[in-house]
Amino acid sequence: MSLDILEIRRDFPILSRQVHGKPLVYFDNAATTQKPKALIAALSSFYENHNGNIHRGAHTLSDEATTLVENARQKTADFINAPKPETIVFTRNATEAINLVAHSWGRKFLKAGDEIVLTELEHHSNLVPWQILAAEKSLKLRFIPINRVGDLDLSAAEELFSDKTKLVSFTAASNVLGTLPPVLKIIGLAKKFGAKTLVDASQWTPHFKTDVQDWDCDFLAFSAHKMLGPTGLGVLYGREKLLEEMDPFLGGGDMIETVELETFTPNVLPAKFEAGTPAIAEAAVFPEALNYLSKIGFSAIEAQEKILLRRALEILKNEPEIELYGSALPEGRGGVISFNLKGLHPHDVGTALDLEGVAVRTGHHCCQPLMRRLEVGGTARASFYFYNMLEEVEIFGRALRKTIEFFKPRLKAGVR
Ligand SMILES: Cc1ncc(COP(=O)(O)O)c(C=O)c1O
Repeated sequence: MSLDILEIRRDFPILSRQVHGKPLVYFDNAATTQKPKALIAALSSFYENHNGNIHRGAHTLSDEATTLVENARQKTADFINAPKPETIVFTRNATEAINLVAHSWGRKFLKAGDEIVLTELEHHSNLVPWQILAAEKSLKLRFIPINRVGDLDLSAAEELFSDKTKLVSFTAASNVLGTLPPVLKIIGLAKKFGAKTLVDASQWTPHFKTDVQDWDCDFLAFSAHKMLGPTGLGVLYGREKLLEEMDPFLGGGDMIETVELETFTPNVLPAKFEAGTPAIAEAAVFPEALNYLSKIGFSAIEAQEKILLRRALEILKNEPEIELYGSALPEGRGGVISFNLKGLHPHDVGTALDLEGVAVRTGHHCCQPLMRRLEVGGTARASFYFYNMLEEVEIFGRALRKTIEFFKPRLKAGVR
């Protein structure tokens, strides 16, 4: 089914703005996506009509806000096929969700000599929390390597696992190379060794259908803002039994059942992990984003992104001055492309493209070890979403050509 992109774009007011006098071409969707009118309106409506603190008041506004947040929890559970809303913990973002697991599960259940398997693709969010924990508890971190095109080398992976492996934490989709690791295979491998699994789905849930029961993962983390939702809201799914066994993350209001001067007893799930006033308005309106995605449907989302990806790769491959990272084939990968103009700093590429209205991200993309593996300091990254048009890919191509022409003498010099 092909989408009526022009119709869809009318739902995203920001997409019709201009940048430097040129129509905005927003290709920084892996960083954050734009928001539909329905979500923006719901946010206003929440503050105009329902704003109150949740789980606390005996008054109507508090009740209404509580109902909206708890409905959002149910809706989020349904969206990823979680068995119960209690297995959905609202956090500030995916980063906080992963830190929660490191803190509340890792600190309690891991001991010196235990091993955690990660991959060379990981975002700092799925790296640094484990480094902190490893330093504190004398754990060993092991890494599934990538091959030349950025796929995980699973033949090497087998050797990394042993009965010391207690957790495998990995991204379902790379934010740099677009790699889609074989989630089921990795989870299967982890299970063979009795290890728990955490899937960083930050770049997966916006683009592909997610089913935590099908994957049978122990934890899954993602951010609302990368899937049409508001900033300030993240999601941790956890297997109920594990969440029950884990200690609280932050201490404060709402996460307790009773408090004495010297002690406390924790609240039931998921409140145990939601200390303090949460992102109430953001959670309340998140269903607008989920509804929008469901209405479009993931097969249509995937198909549109593939059209964009295919053409963009074609353009990039045809420019000899461009170095492409990751697979150059549109099949079996996500809509994220990293590239450099040989001899040019990626920030110069980003600035030149911005002058043409084209927004791409430049730098290390919170993946410094991966950059080192690719032997670059950074890359320019174009990332697509279903509301992007083929015409925008053509504008991107023309803007790149212009940039290449402008910097030609420096490109020829081949200075990196
Ligand atoms: C793969 C991946 N993991 C984790 C994150 C962290 O997301 P957030 O900053 O919303 O916590 C990102 C953000 O870019 C990401 O791409």
